[in-house]
Amino acid sequence: MSEQQPPSSGGIDWGSLREAALKAMEKAYVPYSKFPVGVAAIVTDGRIIAGCNVENASYGLTLCAECALVSTLHLTGGGQLVAFTCVDGDGNTLMPCGRCRQLLFEHAVPGMLLETVSGIRTIDEVLPDAFGPRTLSAYGER
Ligand code: THU
Repeated sequence: MSEQQPPSSGGIDWGSLREAALKAMEKAYVPYSKFPVGVAAIVTDGRIIAGCNVENASYGLTLCAECALVSTLHLTGGGQLVAFTCVDGDGNTLMPCGRCRQLLFEHAVPGMLLETVSGIRTIDEVLPDAFGPRTLSAYGER
């Protein structure tokens, strides 16, 4: 496969992952935006984790679904994210917001796959030239 081609589905069971994201979406607490979001990911040890968005009367304190997912990742044993999907209240694929791409990047295996509105993409494609932990360690080594 040439580097120009999009990544394949990577042998991921995207159907099961979407099911987990849909189930999580139904638990979203969204009295303000009425825009429920559910996310799910496969971890390096094979487990599936999920998250939903939780809003707040102080709107800016809203927790995106990805925040819950990353917390659950650590709470349930750590590891890294291998594949990720995000759905809206209609079950349509949703792109993670910019902030959440950064959150995911920190906990992703290199080349983590995401289901996106334009097909399966890698984390590097949706957050090119990312700032991350390696940027900080390179600075510290000067
Ligand atoms: N939202 C997420 O949970 N994740 C995203 O990546 C995009 C946005 C939530 C935040 C807010 O509760 C609602 O969607 C509308 O912005």
